[in-house]
Amino acid sequence: MDVKDVLQFTDTLFFSETGKHIDRLQETILKGTLDGQKYTEIAEEEHCTEGHVRNVASELWQILSNALDQEVNKSNFRRTLQRSNLSIRSSPFTNVSNVNFCNNSNIKDSEVMNNRSPASPSNLEKTPTQPHLDLSDAPKIFTFYDRTSELTTLKQWILDEDTRLLAILGIVGIGKTALAVNLVEQIKHEFDFIIWRSLATSPPLSILQTNIIQFLRRGDAPVSAPEEKATTGGLSLVDYLQKYRCLLILDDVQMVNSSGQLAGNYQPGYEDYGTLFRQVGELSHNSCLLLLSSEKPREIAALEGKNQPIRSLQLNGLGAGAREILREKGLAEDENWSELIEQYRGNPLWLKIVATMIQDLFNGNISELLSDDTLFLGDLESLLDQPFNRLSEPEKQVMSSLASETAPVSIAKLRENMQLSRSRQRCVAVSQLLKIMQSLGRRSLIEKIQEGDRTFFTLGPVLKEYVKQTCCCQVSSTSNLD
Ligand SMILES: Nc1ncnc2c1ncn2[C@@H]1O[C@H](COP(=O)(O)OP(=O)(O)OP(=O)(O)O)[C@@H](O)[C@H]1O
Ligand SMILES: [Mg+2]
Repeated sequence: MDVKDVLQFTDTLFFSETGKHIDRLQETILKGTLDGQKYTEIAEEEHCTEGHVRNVASELWQILSNALDQEVNKSNFRRTLQRSNLSIRSSPFTNVSNVNFCNNSNIKDSEVMNNRSPASPSNLEKTPTQPHLDLSDAPKIFTFYDRTSELTTLKQWILDEDTRLLAILGIVGIGKTALAVNLVEQIKHEFDFIIWRSLATSPPLSILQTNIIQFLRRGDAPVSAPEEKATTGGLSLVDYLQKYRCLLILDDVQMVNSSGQLAGNYQPGYEDYGTLFRQVGELSHNSCLLLLSSEKPREIAALEGKNQPIRSLQLNGLGAGAREILREKGLAEDENWSELIEQYRGNPLWLKIVATMIQDLFNGNISELLSDDTLFLGDLESLLDQPFNRLSEPEKQVMSSLASETAPVSIAKLRENMQLSRSRQRCVAVSQLLKIMQSLGRRSLIEKIQEGDRTFFTLGPVLKEYVKQTCCCQVSSTSNLD
């Protein structure tokens, strides 16, 4: 599609919605968008304010979205038109109207309008824009609160900033999967293929790839059948990600990592996952690989950056939505909800579990639970066993030491507590301690508190209670970390 075709076609759509042709500023916005210009640059060119350009553009995208019945914005304008495969020349609409743009039409608006039916834009020749979905591994989410800013950030990264490798990270139950399910719902029309796979059973990469490629080949890919036969025989998953615009979601990615080692080490035989993640992050393509994990993958840690196509989003507790969870569970005494939410760190699953228990034991009255000095874990204990059983011994020792502290501690204090020896061995031990803290951070298990230029570390109340109550406390805090 050349620029003239795009402008002409856009004008047709615009006219069909408003009965008017696009004006000069709207045309400049469209051209600028195709040229990758920023709104500031367009404003300079048109000698007006950026705010004005944004307002006009926003109205324009809205009108085009209505006309095409799908979201059109600055970042997806070109792609949407390409994918829609709409051609002004092949449109029966234009055969009769010979529509021009920018008020140059020598056909009266009324003549064009009279020809709208049955050839309105929704009747134009159009390739279906439905993506090929394989979400059989994705759970159904029934209620979903908050996460507006997280969704905005993720959409911006994926749609506007072409992020290729992305991880949503957070502790068990924080809502990684639920967030991704909602994200997919909102952006699915931007992709040719959307595939969701869980790594909960630790499938070897070769099996996973074969399975995904089978779906990609079965899908009605937008290439001709002979070409498909001739070319797909030896294509790898990465080849497909380069060939089509795919959104591939891998859930429970931590399950291909080793237990008993620092975070991010692959299980023996699973190192090829790391190679795949690196390739997806570094090669040029239009697809996005979204990883959901309670441990930050090593490749993400190494390659992510603000100006890089590799990012990670650390998920924290819910805000106001946490109250909705308690309301849904029918808890009483809403004046005490904030305290409960704070103690359980706004974690939706933890709150669901504790709210059920408050219902079961205290008929929904929170104060009876809060009156006890010990934080109640109940079913949370078995939920937390899984991430804790994955820790290395040195990590368990550090968790144990942090759990015994009443206030956040600095690395220096922690080192003292761990009774590290002085002299030369200390250097090794300090670097080891830093590695352990980094690993615990990558598992979202420690909280970091910044006071001026000093950093302190602590555990949240639930984790502290869990560590106190479980075997981690039996580990001697005087033992060496090596
Ligand atoms: N924003 C939300 N609003 C309401 N409920 C939520 C929200 N996010 C998550 N939940 C609920 O909390 C529970 C845990 O969410 P989810 O499974 O997404 O967490 P997770 O981080 O993927 O956990 P895991 O580490 O075990 O995979 C689910 O029941 C989910 O429906
Ligand atoms: Mg999950």
